[in-house]
Amino acid sequence: MRVTGAIQRDFAIADIDDRLYSAFIEHMGRAIYSGIYEPGHPEADANGFRQDVMRFVRELHIPAIRYPGGNFVSAYRWEDGIGPKDQRPVRLDLAWRSKETNQVGINEFAGWAKDAGIDMMLAVNLGSRGLEEARNFMEYVNHPSGTHWSDLRRSHGVEKPYDVSMWCLGNEMDGPWQIGHKEAKEYGRLADETAKALKGLTPGAELIVCGSSNDQMPTYPEWERVVLEECYDNVHYISLHKYFGNSSRDTLNFFGKVEETGRYIGAIAGVIDYVKAKRRSKHDVFICFDEWNVWYHRREEDSRNWRTWDWPEAPALLEEDYNFEDALFVACLLNEFIRRSDRVRIACIAQLVNVIAPIRAERGGPAWRQTIYWPYQLASLHGRGRALRVALDAPTYDCEVADDVSYLDVSAVHDRQAGTVTVFAVNRHLTEDAELDLALGGFDGEARVVEHQVMAGHDLRATNGPDRPDAIRPVAGSGLGLDGSRLRGRLPALSYSMIKLA
Ligand code: AHR
Repeated sequence: MRVTGAIQRDFAIADIDDRLYSAFIEHMGRAIYSGIYEPGHPEADANGFRQDVMRFVRELHIPAIRYPGGNFVSAYRWEDGIGPKDQRPVRLDLAWRSKETNQVGINEFAGWAKDAGIDMMLAVNLGSRGLEEARNFMEYVNHPSGTHWSDLRRSHGVEKPYDVSMWCLGNEMDGPWQIGHKEAKEYGRLADETAKALKGLTPGAELIVCGSSNDQMPTYPEWERVVLEECYDNVHYISLHKYFGNSSRDTLNFFGKVEETGRYIGAIAGVIDYVKAKRRSKHDVFICFDEWNVWYHRREEDSRNWRTWDWPEAPALLEEDYNFEDALFVACLLNEFIRRSDRVRIACIAQLVNVIAPIRAERGGPAWRQTIYWPYQLASLHGRGRALRVALDAPTYDCEVADDVSYLDVSAVHDRQAGTVTVFAVNRHLTEDAELDLALGGFDGEARVVEHQVMAGHDLRATNGPDRPDAIRPVAGSGLGLDGSRLRGRLPALSYSMIKLA
């Protein structure tokens, strides 16, 4: 198929917030225990954190990480995770029917995040608890000294406050499964009052209010309207969550779910604009897409297991094996976030290790990178700067979730400091290569391809694993080049390419 188009280096959508490439990790399954933390593992450091996992984490250059949940946070007592480890209580985690040993709490996690070079984005419990516990938690984390909670932190060996600026006001409060689930108005009021209190303690705090758990919820998008009408001027972001699957093995429809996500973002942007206008406000609220990923391979089986199991400690849960098709999907979704970076400022892959994750780690054994690690890494490393408008003329298809889906999915990012433009392109066509002819405008003099990485030629169901850790990963690409001011060449069917021009 032939695809023509144009990029003009000075026609931008928005400056991309680096936090578009953030992550999420929850106290559930083996994400924390035997994921990032496993004392006694040959790769564990003196604090029990696995350095093999840490190396993979660092190579992602993650700007921020949401913690400690997820559904877990809605019944979590943060005080259980501070002080001497041998005095911490073991609790029942009501969200995932597991035992929580509290051997990792805020101070251990903060140490890990600092070591990984990642900022924390903390969630407070607005399910089983409320404003009072949220303000105490923030005081422990952010206040310098001279008060009960800040001095308690200092007595735990942490002299300086962490100065965390990103705070999530609960998790998925619209979901009937959530501990302490609420009606929209009820939650909006609580979020507003909690936001006011937290802003009083940390004036620069960026507060994220819960939107719907996904765009199929019966209360979506009315939930967002009602909640925002209660708290608009006191919050900075509204959260979106969406997980994707391809149980029907319809690859093109699966890829079409990226368009559905575009509609979701557009709808919430519309609700934000509506509430802003109604309140005659000049304040802006942006989107924090703080849970996204593919989640379906083991979903039903896991769901049957955890609802009936007998409160195990750190059980295997949601350990999805990602295939090549999932990697192509993730690449398209990241393209969509770049294209919507005018409204989506923060996004978190859910999650980071073992639980629906790009990184896997065996208990006592090796760690490896899943297929989806690679598009996430390439976007995080090369997708920073300004999102550019891309004009494209490509063949399209209709599917169950969307019509006119372009076979070629493209985003482009201009890094003004480095003087580069990076093009991310997924050819979603099942059989046909794309003959690309992209006009480049605004380049000083002759542009050239300085880096080209490609993922192609794999069976859609192929995966990586501990015995074949690098079976699927990007390799140096070829067959693309500059012809005057046009980028020309072939993008194989079912492929992902990262092309950097300077
Ligand atoms: O990421 C797994 C779970 O998915 C989270 O705990 C919850 O917020 C969402 O439903």
